[in-house]
Amino acid sequence: MAKILVLGGAGYIGSHTVYELIEQGFEVVVADNLETGFKAAVHPKASFYEGDIRDKSFIDGVFEKERVDAVIHFAANSQVGESMTAPLKYYDNNLGGTRTMLQSMIEHGVKYIVFSSTAATYGEPERVPILETDKTCPTNCYGETKLAMERMFYWAQQAHGIRYVSLRYFNACGAHPTADIGEAHDPETHLIPIVLQVPNGKREYLSVFGEDYDTKDGSCVRDYIHVCDLASAHVLAARYLMNGGESDIFNLGNGVGFTVKEVISCAESVVGKKIPFKVAERRAGDPALLVASSDKAKGVLGWKPRFDALDTIIATAWRWHSAHPDGYGEK
Ligand code: UFG
Repeated sequence: MAKILVLGGAGYIGSHTVYELIEQGFEVVVADNLETGFKAAVHPKASFYEGDIRDKSFIDGVFEKERVDAVIHFAANSQVGESMTAPLKYYDNNLGGTRTMLQSMIEHGVKYIVFSSTAATYGEPERVPILETDKTCPTNCYGETKLAMERMFYWAQQAHGIRYVSLRYFNACGAHPTADIGEAHDPETHLIPIVLQVPNGKREYLSVFGEDYDTKDGSCVRDYIHVCDLASAHVLAARYLMNGGESDIFNLGNGVGFTVKEVISCAESVVGKKIPFKVAERRAGDPALLVASSDKAKGVLGWKPRFDALDTIIATAWRWHSAHPDGYGEK
């Protein structure tokens, strides 16, 4: 079985992908600087290297010690708000880190990379569902750096024969059904974990950012996709490349949109408690409506999301958050 290097494999989506790879029998090597990831999230069967992809000697060492067949790359900063106040951090880590790592990949003859991109590459969509061929016009620095990373892979392919798959996720959520791993950000900004902080006794209410959007109840619509379905797409993409597939870009979402208020009311029925909220100002940079077309990933990669019902997604998140109210705890 092939050996896969997962960069950022101690983070939220990375750790779930490592679990999926191991369940499917791959040998897995994880490299993570633990800036936002957690050692406890790394599967015990994966080899682990603590270090930073901007450090050429570190990443050279990993490629030298582990002869890997492909890379899955999650090692990046991913907070939209922070990217607007600290844009250079995003250029340094997301673009600089990827450049250093890619140079090392090329020098060590590794050809295949699956890369975590984002719906934020589109910006305010011209239409929904969004297709991969739609205009990309990021409205934040995070999306801008992810789009530039996609282009870096494109040019590295032209010059060095690298083959890549870029996966543009919509709203990642949920947790592994065993509740061994799940979502843990500090600070937490994502809707579902914030909603669940209320029944978990961590906050009294949440804020709904705007109810004057042109949507069915005035709150923003998003396409929520389970983290294990994202994980299975990464594994399919790695197999696709190793089997000779061409470089390509795929959206990953469920193709169904839910408003913020619908998410809250679904969470109320999952946990069996009232979840109070207050309406607040719109959050800067939030598009009203983001829904993916994932037909291409289904057709080309054979991807089939398994957790396509919102209540099932929230139930897995609740199992994790109620068992681990403080996430992984102190680092
Ligand atoms: N929201 C609230 N209250 C909260 C938190 C969020 O109302 O306390 C709303 C947001 O305004 C948004 C929706 O819930 O309408 C979802 O917000 P998230 O922060 O969970 O997710 P985003 O849609 O902002 O972000 C996602 C990905 C990003 C990606 C972005 C693209 O997490 O990586 O989509 O726009 F960049």
